Order: sequence, then structure tokens, then C-alpha cells
Amino acid sequence: SISELNQMQGYCAVASDSECGWSLTKILIKGGTVVNAHHKEVADVYIEDGIIVSVRPNIKVGDDVKILDATGKYVMPGGIDPHTHLEMEFMGTVTIDDFFTGQAAALAGGTTMHIDFVIPVKGSLSAGLESYKNKAKKAVMDYGFHMAITKWDEEVAKEMELMVKENGINSFKFFMAYKGSLMVNDELLIQGLKKCKSLGALAMVHAENGDGVAEGQKRMIDLGIRGPEGHALSRPPVLEGEATARAIHLASFVNTPLYVVHVMSIDAMEEIAKARKAGQRVTGEPVVSGLVLDDSWLWDPDFTTAAKYVMSPPIRKAGHDKALQSALSRGILQLVGTDHCTFNSTQKAFGFDDFRKIPNGVNGIEERMHLIWDTMVVSGQISVTDYVRITSTECARIFNIYPRKGAILEGSDADIIILNPNASFKVAAASHHSRSDTNVYDGRTGKGKVEVTISGGRIVWEDGTLNIVPGSGRYVRMEPYGYLFDGVEKADAAYLASLRAPVLRAQAAA
Ligand code: URP
Ligand code: ZN
Ligand code: ZN
Ligand code: ZN
Repeated sequence: SISELNQMQGYCAVASDSECGWSLTKILIKGGTVVNAHHKEVADVYIEDGIIVSVRPNIKVGDDVKILDATGKYVMPGGIDPHTHLEMEFMGTVTIDDFFTGQAAALAGGTTMHIDFVIPVKGSLSAGLESYKNKAKKAVMDYGFHMAITKWDEEVAKEMELMVKENGINSFKFFMAYKGSLMVNDELLIQGLKKCKSLGALAMVHAENGDGVAEGQKRMIDLGIRGPEGHALSRPPVLEGEATARAIHLASFVNTPLYVVHVMSIDAMEEIAKARKAGQRVTGEPVVSGLVLDDSWLWDPDFTTAAKYVMSPPIRKAGHDKALQSALSRGILQLVGTDHCTFNSTQKAFGFDDFRKIPNGVNGIEERMHLIWDTMVVSGQISVTDYVRITSTECARIFNIYPRKGAILEGSDADIIILNPNASFKVAAASHHSRSDTNVYDGRTGKGKVEVTISGGRIVWEDGTLNIVPGSGRYVRMEPYGYLFDGVEKADAAYLASLRAPVLRAQAAA
């Protein structure tokens, strides 16, 4: 049971509100530098019943209020991870972190909300949603859903409408890879883009040419390359660049915004840069693994070590990582996810003699905030306000939940972290909160430490201890027509007018 699991892992398993400080709902965070995406200032933050009540210097409170001293530290919106796969059935198995362990890990690392991908059940969106609602019953923090689209017919189109209008889902993901399971063809993608546009929902793509990947896999097997390195060799950057360009061109043809998940290569990034320069609404999401790792691990002679780095699109050669960091710092890419999709070494071993059977996915939900701070802020590539934008605010804006999420403003949800820039973090598989026995960032250290996480107005992480209650996490509904849709109608009107102009000229001439 969850409470047994809780106890086993040393978490607070008390469901009642009166024990272990869980009832404390009035908190004053004193003297920290409050950072939003638009502004930072030294101020106090007063929280009551899960909501930020006041943000200003020198707030005076009574003695029933818990006080946290944040002098010399940063007080920032909790991270929002736009890309996770908790308890997902995939490649013949199920990801090992569920909505309890995955979210526990998230909170310990300063992330207070995530958006997970609902996978339809036999093509049915409603059945998929029911299944994910059940998985999320043990949630310990707020979460939202994207929905994958894996087949096309009138029923799916109707269900998309139902998802948007009644179920709080405002984004749909199309897999251009995983031939034979999740992959969609161009015909489906075009229908899907049209439907997304008509609903004000954001279309997301996993951009790799799935037919090319199948051919590349055959090529490697024919050459006798069956180890984890074959994974990277079988799906090179050119296949990611091609699919990214194709998705961008089709989204332009339909005139609807596009969100490219897990941008892993220079090839894909440059397609996004080109489209954005031309004024197209394209969002690019790098993930932590693509930003801080390179593919050298895939050649490690030890299978267990190499296999843990297998994800799709693959982690690329050194150079792609730095180029993606630079693109992120220059605004070519806009926000950072993790694609947290964990399999333990037993599951990874399914592909011991055939890389095609290694379940694809790496961890990151607990490490994202620290690794991005160290890699991007400590290195001087971005400012502290930029950090808040790429880890939290931009995600909230895109998915239309700002400023309830992604900001420290009066009236916002009290999802807050306190980060000490002078402390250090260390990643270790032995002490992380994921259920996996491995960690692709094992041994990494760096500057900056999330010392306190506040989720829904409760202190859930302090002094290295989690204090969480299964079932306390809430489903966050996300309404359609986020800001990326602003102006889409005007562009359509201009397009239609341009079609009519020759007709009117012909009529005038007759
Ligand atoms: O390897 C990966 N990325 N696994 C998760 C599924 C996906 O493609 O996002
Ligand atoms: Zn307790
Ligand atoms: Zn994907
Ligand atoms: Zn993913």
C-alpha cells in the first residue's frame, strides 16, 4: 500500500492534518530575493491556506505563523516540468516511477507541478484519461495532462473536443516515431493539427522520422551492431532535423502553433530557429539530458551503464549539448523539461542482446532544477530571472495557467522554492527519491541547493526531509487558447483576403 511504501521510504505517512506540522498553513518567508520572470526584489512573502497573500518588504505577522529565514537566498516559483511519463506503459513494460515516487522526487528537487502525457487505451482518449486519473490518485503535488493522439477517426476527433471542453486538457502530442506503436503519418498529423487549431489546443510533436529510424535499426542489425551504441547510430540527428522541419512546415500550412518536445540536436534546433526568425509560432523544449549529457556513455563496455542512457531522440555527440544551452540562453528554445521516463536496470536489460528492446527513457524530474541552475546560471549563460522563466513561468504561460502557477504574486498558488546559491547539490542513485536503481546524473555535483519546497502552501521539503501526503495533489485544468494563439485568426483572415483578391479583380475586369 501507499502508506507502507511511505514508511519504507521514510516519508511522513500521516494522513491527518494535525501531525508533523502538516496543519501549518500560515507561512512567512523573510528577507529573501523574490524572483519572478519579469522582476526580482528583496521582499517577504506571506502565505495563507495555499495562496500567496502578500509580497512586500517587512511584513509583520502574529506568532501563529511559521517563519522561514531566506536572507541571502532566492525565493522562486516552484519548477513546472512540462514533460514527464509517470507509470506509463511503454515498450512492453511500465515506467518505474509512478505519481507517488515521481512526484516525491520532483518535490525534493524543487519542482511543484508537472504535465504528464496521457496515452490513449486502444486509441480511446476517454479510456486513457480514466486510466491516468486512477494512476494520479496518489498524487502529492499538482499536475496536469497532455494527451497523445495515436490513431485517427471521427470518434477521436470528437473525443479531442471533449478533452478540451470538459476535461481541462489543452495540448495533444503526436509521435512521428515509434513505428508500429505510437507513430502517426503525415495524413494523421495534418488532421490532428487542424483539429487542434479549431479547439485552441496546442499541437506537440516528438519529431523523428519513424520510417527512417526503422531503416537505421535494420542497417545496424545487418552490420551486427546490437549494443546500446546501435541506438544512437540508428537514429542520427538528420532524422530529427527532417521530422522537425516537416512538422514545422505542416503547422505553417495549417497556421497553428507548434511545440517541439525534447529538442536533442543542432539539426532540430536550427529548424526551430529558422521558423521563429520567419515569425512562426514554434516553441522548442530542450530536456536536461540533451543539455548536460553526451552520447559517449552509450559506448561504455558495461551494458547496464550504457543502457541507462538510451532515450529517444538519442543523447547526441558532445557539441550538441553546448549548442542547445546557447540556443536556450538566446531565446531560440524557450523552456526546459525532463522527459522523466525511468526504467530500472532489470527493465533496461530486456534489450541486453538487441538495443531495439531497451526501454527508452532517462530520469531527471528530481535533478532538473539543480542541473539547470548550475549549467545555465552559475556558468553565467542566463540571469536568475531567465532561470525562473525557463523552469516555470514560460510553461505556465504556454499552457494557460499563469499567473496561478509560475509566479510569486498576490493571489498565485503558494508553490515556492528557496534556493541557497552558496550551498551545493550532489546527485546519487543511492539517495535519490526515484524508485530506479540507477541515475544518469549519478555523482554530479554543483553549486546551488533547493533547501525548502512549498507545495500548495505546505512545507513539503526541508532539511533534506520530505513531508508529503498521498492524495493531496490536485489536477490542474488547463483552458484552451493560450497566448500562442493570439493573432492566429488575423493571419487566417489575411490569408483568405489574399485568396479573394484575384477573384475580385477578375470580377471587376469582367
Ligand atoms: O525515450 C523517451 N523519450 N521515452 C519517453 C517517450 C517519449 O518519446 O517521450
Ligand atoms: Zn511525519
Ligand atoms: Zn517523445
Ligand atoms: Zn517524452
